[in-house]
Amino acid sequence: MINMSSSKKEPLLIIGGGLMGLAVAYELARHGLTVEILSRRRSEAAGFVAAGMLAPYAEGLTGDLLKLSQLSLDLIPKWVKRIENDSGIDCGLKKCGTIVPFSSSEERDKHLCAPFGHKLDRTELENELPGIASKWKTALLFNQDGQIDNRRQLMRALEKACVAMGVQFQEGIEVLELLHDEKEFKGVRVLNAEGKIEKILGEKAVLCGGAWSNQIFSSIPVFPVKGQMMSLQGPKESLNRILYGPGTYMVPRTDGLVVIGATSEKNAKFQEGLTPDGQSQLHQGIHELFPQASQWPQMERWWGFRPCTPDKNPLLGPYLLKGLWLATGHYRNGVLLAAITAELIVKCICKKQLSISESQLLEKFTWNRFAVIN
Ligand code: GLY
Repeated sequence: MINMSSSKKEPLLIIGGGLMGLAVAYELARHGLTVEILSRRRSEAAGFVAAGMLAPYAEGLTGDLLKLSQLSLDLIPKWVKRIENDSGIDCGLKKCGTIVPFSSSEERDKHLCAPFGHKLDRTELENELPGIASKWKTALLFNQDGQIDNRRQLMRALEKACVAMGVQFQEGIEVLELLHDEKEFKGVRVLNAEGKIEKILGEKAVLCGGAWSNQIFSSIPVFPVKGQMMSLQGPKESLNRILYGPGTYMVPRTDGLVVIGATSEKNAKFQEGLTPDGQSQLHQGIHELFPQASQWPQMERWWGFRPCTPDKNPLLGPYLLKGLWLATGHYRNGVLLAAITAELIVKCICKKQLSISESQLLEKFTWNRFAVIN
């Protein structure tokens, strides 16, 4: 247990070592703070599960979430460059665009982001994606969208960049409880990697617990939405755009690997593992989008848990106790929103000037939008 009278400066604690935890830790450490990441099992983080799409338009985001995503899209090239420089690892950022296919122009024009897209007729669609199934007659091309190779590259790069910035890691730590008095955060009670309960004291923490946030602090309204995924090895450049169909998407990496996602299973809660239904949904989706891909060798299959909130928007900013901030609940858009999340949280903690639009936007994502009003 940490000696309370110790004069050693307590680090700012990052609770959760997934993508959000790493992104926030990296940014705080770059600003000169002493940071320690407490993580239970990093391999289960949604950052390792996601397909890495940067696709607010294909996802049909609107309102404040779209604004937040646009700010993040603007930050991402420089953010990635910094991570690449500090880690020496390429993150696989590609502005490859997404194509959302439709069977009729009526359906296409109903897409929530249709005004941001470029309409393609069948001939143009075939030119963009030779081999796309014949049922798709038209499409929207969103050139603004892209991808990062999160699973193989970004997560490793961020971890290495954090180490380069002096971030400390404790893996195998399960946070059981937040310690606090009436007003202030005081630390955490944890089950450590040796199976012993201990207290880790600190004055400041950012809770980045993803789908598990609510197990750490039960008033946080986050719940899991399971997603099953798989990957195929296609010929290089067999797909040059992300193909984003209803219920299934195909994300082509530069080396020909195609990441396929994803089921969306709220009722599965934290039930681990692949299911026959989930896997056949993905196979059916591939067949309906891009039939020849059904013949490509299957590589991996995996699953994970998206952190969802009641309005499907993230929880960002200060939370209930002095010294505690939230960066969680990013649901389907964690990779897209990591850069802006880190930027805004660091501005809050380091008391840096937020622009008017940033502070107005942050207001929209605070926890108290779910507070019960008597
Ligand atoms: N971002 C896509 C998904 O969560 O499946």
